[in-house]
Amino acid sequence: MDLGLRDKVAIVTGGARGIGAAIGERLAMEGARVAVVDRDGAGAGAQADKLQTMGVEARAYAVDVTDEASVNDMVEAVADTWGSVHLLVNNAGFTRDMRITKMGVGDWDSVVDVILKGAFLCTRAVLPHMTAEGQRWGRIVNISSRAHLGNPGQANYSAAKAGLIGFTRAMSLENGRFGVTVNAIAPGIIDTQAVRDLPHYDKVREAAEKTTPVPRMGNPSDVADAVAFLLSERASYVSGDLLHVSGGRY
Ligand SMILES: NC(=O)c1ccc[n+]([C@@H]2O[C@H](COP(=O)([O-])OP(=O)(O)OC[C@H]3O[C@@H](n4cnc5c(N)ncnc54)[C@H](O)[C@@H]3O)[C@@H](O)[C@H]2O)c1
Repeated sequence: MDLGLRDKVAIVTGGARGIGAAIGERLAMEGARVAVVDRDGAGAGAQADKLQTMGVEARAYAVDVTDEASVNDMVEAVADTWGSVHLLVNNAGFTRDMRITKMGVGDWDSVVDVILKGAFLCTRAVLPHMTAEGQRWGRIVNISSRAHLGNPGQANYSAAKAGLIGFTRAMSLENGRFGVTVNAIAPGIIDTQAVRDLPHYDKVREAAEKTTPVPRMGNPSDVADAVAFLLSERASYVSGDLLHVSGGRY
């Protein structure tokens, strides 16, 4: 199936490692040009180098997605370099888990900001390019989480990931008539460094193998494949939707 992504210009936030890195690699396999955006500038640089070895143009941008001016500058730099922006994946995010009674305002704000303010700022900056008269084409995918259903110890993260789904639907309604689709993906437990760093990683893996209908943890490439479809020409009549990539676990 030709996804129609050759030479499209993609911005992937949190693209230095994990799911974001896999998305960049999947897009590179399709011949897209990729801006690897991450607050870890060295990691983003290494990942952009890797994508270039796959035969595509790639650039690294050291950006904190919660910083308005940096996000705006990055999007303009990408558009100046490659002519426009066609694809955005709002993937940057992290957890800071604790019971609500232990949760400080900083613990709440940092998680909600990276997920919600980050997606807001990046989306607002790319839309003028996607909706411009000569283009009228764009694809946005927001990486939510199965935690949108609510997880104990994750009030901040669950609230933000559920909020991201509302944001997705609002953006879909606002921008469909300009040729822009907006969808969300809710991954289950995906085997990335962020999960491997958990003190109870072995238990998480065992539980995934026992309780997930597809009895394993997910791989970053499982998410990247779904993202590539939603970003593609083949998904032009899918918008405002939420796709779980969770091995059937709800
Ligand atoms: N791994 C899972 O099980 C899982 C499950 C569901 C959803 N997710 C979501 O998928 C996304 C990626 O997760 P991952 O497991 O690959 O995590 P990860 O920690 O491996 O990678 C996240 C990347 O985001 C970057 N980042 C964090 N804050 C940033 C900021 N403010 N500005 C720019 N970059 C920033 C980090 O530097 C890192 O490179 C996250 O949104 C996460 O919530 C992950």
